[in-house]
Amino acid sequence: MKTLVIYYSRKGENYVNGGLKKIEKGNTEIVAEFIRDAVGADLFEVDTVKPYSDSYMTCIEEAKKELQSDARPEIKNTLSDISGYDNIVVAGPCWWGTYPMAIFTQLEKLDFTGKKIFPVMTHEGSGLANSQRDLAKLCKGATVGKGLAVHGGSASSSRSTVESWAKENLL
Ligand SMILES: Cc1cc2nc3c(=O)[nH]c(=O)nc-3n(C[C@H](O)[C@H](O)[C@H](O)COP(=O)(O)O)c2cc1C
Repeated sequence: MKTLVIYYSRKGENYVNGGLKKIEKGNTEIVAEFIRDAVGADLFEVDTVKPYSDSYMTCIEEAKKELQSDARPEIKNTLSDISGYDNIVVAGPCWWGTYPMAIFTQLEKLDFTGKKIFPVMTHEGSGLANSQRDLAKLCKGATVGKGLAVHGGSASSSRSTVESWAKENLL
C-alpha cells in the first residue's frame, strides 16, 4: 500500500498551549512527518501564492472571508497525478470548521476514483469538524477511511498516537 500525505500547515504565529507563539514548523507539518516516518508515506505540501498574515488574528479574518466566499486561493505547486498511490491522507489545520480553502484548490484538480482518503486535522478544540463531510463531497469516487484529530498544541508529543493510527489504517 502506498500512501501520499497532502497537507497544508501555516508557519508564523500560532496557539501553543493557550498562548500565542511564533513557530518555525506548523502543527500539521509535524503530524504529517510522523505519518511519513510511521509508514514510509510521501509528502506533498500545499502552499498559497499569496501568504496569509503572520499575525494570528489577521489570518483568522482572512480565512473567514475565504470560507464565506468559497474561495480557491492560487497555490504555488499543483499536484496533477496521484495514480501511483492507494491511500491519500489529507492533513490540515481546522480553519473555521474545515480545511484551509487552498486544500480544496488542490483536491479539485485530482482524480480520486478508487482511492481511499483519510482526513487528518489539527485543531484547538473542534476535532475533525467538517473534514469528513467536505472530503466526501470534494473527492468523488473515493471512500473515506477513519480520520485522526490531533490537538494542535500537543502535535509534537503526538508521535505514538499518530504512528498507531497510521499503522492501523494505512498499511
Ligand atoms: C485561520 C484559523 C482558523 C482556525 N479555526 C479553528 C477552528 O474553527 N477550530 C479549532 O479547533 N481550531 C481552529 N484554529 C486553530 C488551528 O486549527 C490549530 O492551531 C492548528 O493546529 C494549526 O495548524 P498548523 O500549525 O498546521 O497551521 C484556527 C486557526 C487559524 C489560524
